Amino acid sequence: MIKKEAKDKYTLGLELPTDPRWADMAGKNIHDVLVDHAYCEQKAASSCISLIVQYADKEKLVEVLTPVVAEEWNHFERVVAELKKRKLPLGKQRRDEYVEALQKIIHKGGSREEQLVERLLMNALIEARSCERFKMLWKNIPDKALAEFYYELMVSEAGHYKNFLSLAKEYRPAADVDRRWRELLEQEAEIIRNLTLRPDRMH
Ligand SMILES: [Fe+2]
Ligand SMILES: [Fe+2]
Repeated sequence: MIKKEAKDKYTLGLELPTDPRWADMAGKNIHDVLVDHAYCEQKAASSCISLIVQYADKEKLVEVLTPVVAEEWNHFERVVAELKKRKLPLGKQRRDEYVEALQKIIHKGGSREEQLVERLLMNALIEARSCERFKMLWKNIPDKALAEFYYELMVSEAGHYKNFLSLAKEYRPAADVDRRWRELLEQEAEIIRNLTLRPDRMH
């Protein structure tokens, strides 16, 4: 029942759905996808740690993001275990063109709070897009155990997306955050439109 509902949920406001061909391409290239995915989890954990260290004075942020670090690191561990199960090495981190493009659309100036909100929204975008990709993998890949894992991740990243958006509203007025969020959703769609669809990347 829950899974049936989930098919129509978890799009999280994204303006442009991923090209449906991606799921099949990625499913046939699971080693590269797992390696890239492992580093996505590592970057998610590192990004939360860096926010906690830089904004240690923000009690709510520390409270919300501390357990997220543990969850992202647990995801990393489990992706590494999936690689090990297949006798595949983790290998080196690959260039992340999606995150590089997002970094370019994030405003750099402004107050400390404004910069924080930009970073929180960028994290929310990555969570939303990852959630959408996990949903595609869950629904399409033939390996049932791995599909279950992707289902679980889809639910978890949707929770993180909500965490980042609600944290943003702690530090800037909700109307400003909503306006900026809509702007970023449009820009993110443009990034996805212009990125080459790759079988070896999560994004
Ligand atoms: Fe994760
Ligand atoms: Fe996440």
